Amino acid sequence: MPNRIVISKFGGPEVLKYEKYLLPEQIDPNNIRIEQTSIGLNYIDTYHRTGLYPLPDKLPQCLGLEGAGRVVEIGNNVNHIKIGDRVAYASPPLGAYCEIRDFPADKIIKIPDFISNDEAASILLQGMTVEYLFERLYRIKKNDIILFHAAAGGVGLIACQWAKAIGCKMIGTVSTKEKETLAKENGCDYVINYKEQNLVEKVMEITENKGVPVVYDGIGKDTFNKSLDCLQTRGLMVSFGQSSGMVDQVDLHKTFNPKSLYYTRPTLMHYTRNKEELEISSNSLFEKIKSKKIKPNIFKTYNLKDANKAHEELESRKTLGSIILKP
Ligand SMILES: NC(=O)c1ccc[n+]([C@@H]2O[C@H](COP(=O)([O-])OP(=O)(O)OC[C@H]3O[C@@H](n4cnc5c(N)ncnc54)[C@H](OP(=O)(O)O)[C@@H]3O)[C@@H](O)[C@H]2O)c1
Repeated sequence: MPNRIVISKFGGPEVLKYEKYLLPEQIDPNNIRIEQTSIGLNYIDTYHRTGLYPLPDKLPQCLGLEGAGRVVEIGNNVNHIKIGDRVAYASPPLGAYCEIRDFPADKIIKIPDFISNDEAASILLQGMTVEYLFERLYRIKKNDIILFHAAAGGVGLIACQWAKAIGCKMIGTVSTKEKETLAKENGCDYVINYKEQNLVEKVMEITENKGVPVVYDGIGKDTFNKSLDCLQTRGLMVSFGQSSGMVDQVDLHKTFNPKSLYYTRPTLMHYTRNKEELEISSNSLFEKIKSKKIKPNIFKTYNLKDANKAHEELESRKTLGSIILKP
């Protein structure tokens, strides 16, 4: 029997349990069966584990939204994928933390030759996130100065490289010296250590008191107000995550009216709604990898059974780049 990680209750990393499970005897006609070699760990997995984000199904639940592997079986209605193909995915249904699983064929992405399975599982979800944030939600341009939080994280290091490739000047925030160096090495033009420096003052100094046209904030509670202070009049606040906790109730008038700000709370699933959008996003990422403008940053590899340790490390802010789990 194969193994997987499930939660039977919400809580800390200790609720992640390794167990055996049965695969459905019959594959759904629209699914493919993937023998997984690599699983992507994402911050959203911690929101699912704690119950911060509601789960679509009742507990117990296998977590995870990203994986890569080899196709071992295909449903009767599937004709664009064949057994033996190397494939990856970065979307619901949940259940990536396992050795083998069934997945809807229309949400599958074939892995190009120049990307390994481990690299695909480390970069697909975070890379497509940067794609929609920088190319479609707000199109960053050469010489724009933008602010992006947690620049040495999984999403952050891809953002550093993507902005550099476009010639956009990114101000990235980090919490340690080590992260500062890494963000710079990945192309971040200005790095602010928000443990040591005053974020708003530094941003105003860099932008000659203009402020930035857009802030990408994946940290949430701790940075929300300061992020707004860094924006220009009619600037755009992009709240795309909350690693420090959810932003409390917001007074719309007091918050956005003083500078006529725009606000959005986007999610990758709404920018990859169908096969066409999925291809736009993944092809754009793959093109950047092929032309060596972006390289995957696998910070650490854990055994699947040690998913709890990987969650602990991610939440303790010690990770520098992406983490994968190996079945
Ligand atoms: N909306 C979307 O479509 C979408 C898609 C993917 C990811 N996301 C979001 O993007 C963000 C980054 O995701 P990721 O997987 O790449 O994670 P990550 O950036 O590798 O890890 C989170 C980082 O947040 C920073 N942080 C600040 N305060 C924190 C706190 N109190 N606890 C923990 N971390 C804190 C830390 O960097 P410093 O130590 O440098 O501050 C930490 O390394 C997350 O909020 C995630 O939910 C959103």
